[in-house]
Amino acid sequence: MIIEKIELRDFRNYEKLELELEPGVNVLMGRNAQGKTNLLEAIGYCSTGRSHRTSYDRECIRMGTSDAFIKLIFHNENEMLRPGAKPRSDSVELHLRRNGSKSAAINRVPVQKINDLFGCIRTVLFSPEDLGLIKEGPSRRRRFMDMEICQVDKVYLHYLQQYQIVLRQRNQLLKELVKAAKGVPSQVDRTLVEVYDDQFADFACRLIARRRVFLEKLGTLAPVIHSQISGASEEIRFTYEMNVADNREMMIHKLADSFESDLKQGSTSVGPHRDDIGIHINGIDVRTYGSQGQKRTAALSMKLAEVEMMEKETGTSPVLLLDDVMSELDESRQRFLVQSIEKHQTIITCTGVEDSIRRMQNARVFKVEEGTITI
Ligand SMILES: Nc1ncnc2c1ncn2[C@@H]1O[C@H](COP(=O)(O)OP(=O)(O)O)[C@@H](O)[C@H]1O
Ligand SMILES: [Mg+2]
Repeated sequence: MIIEKIELRDFRNYEKLELELEPGVNVLMGRNAQGKTNLLEAIGYCSTGRSHRTSYDRECIRMGTSDAFIKLIFHNENEMLRPGAKPRSDSVELHLRRNGSKSAAINRVPVQKINDLFGCIRTVLFSPEDLGLIKEGPSRRRRFMDMEICQVDKVYLHYLQQYQIVLRQRNQLLKELVKAAKGVPSQVDRTLVEVYDDQFADFACRLIARRRVFLEKLGTLAPVIHSQISGASEEIRFTYEMNVADNREMMIHKLADSFESDLKQGSTSVGPHRDDIGIHINGIDVRTYGSQGQKRTAALSMKLAEVEMMEKETGTSPVLLLDDVMSELDESRQRFLVQSIEKHQTIITCTGVEDSIRRMQNARVFKVEEGTITI
């Protein structure tokens, strides 16, 4: 996948931008707070329909303005072509509104839901916060799984949305039941719990099954990368850590078991929205006991495995967005990363051109200054 051009209007600190990108390595260089990450954020927006930094779209609209626009023109480098023919270009447009919901269009045809953008332009973002994938709580690792699977599997996206709807409805019902128990007049119907639990268990099991397949694939790709970076001394393994069960009957049983305590909390305590990925290096839980270096290598191998997996599953290579990662890595990890990104279109931000970037052939350097970009 190659992004040919990006256009921005009133996005973050960009009033107006038109930027043509190289199919190879694009380096965005500039001091802090000039708009480097903002540009990667805009690309990511078109890929997943959301920002990787905020869940409030309005934060991305330039201060003092009411709407922001992003447009990407791209093509699929693997399209079967007649000799000499140019690949067909596609476009994605996204419109953020301060007083309203966002909308998007693919090739100028409006999409019905923002989630329809998934799979259109595939990207993988590397950032210093990737360390959080190992260090932080389970929600970071679930998000990693969900975002990756959604980019390659529309059915999973559908199940995930349905699951989230039922979960919300069930939690709402729990709250209503608590109110009714306190004597607040309510029309709440207790028998609905069984209906929700049934649907809940159905979607939950489907999600778990697909997440397991994902982890199996990650478990074959990441160890190869990890041992290359760590010099074959370390073996990384992943497990799906389930808080309940992956069969319907058991799940329904557990939901019923925890019903009274769920009522007290007003939320559902069992299900895949509480699951986690177990990450072990040489048998030791790296989330708790890993050294800083092991955590960094583990995060890097998981992300690079994600790139490989996406390429294998879709037959197209994702665009890599590297936000200030080089300075975080030591010489050998930098070299490994540079080698691994060679085949992909890459957009990489930095404050100064480091040696590892200087060594990259055909890298085009752009200067970023207060929301303008020059060559
Ligand atoms: N909604 C907004 N409107 C205008 N400027 C913004 C908005 N959001 C962020 N900025 C500005 O963008 C800059 C940060 O950009 P960023 O891309 O994160 O920097 P960096 O180049 O360090 O990656 C800051 O100067 C900030 O004030
Ligand atoms: Mg930045």
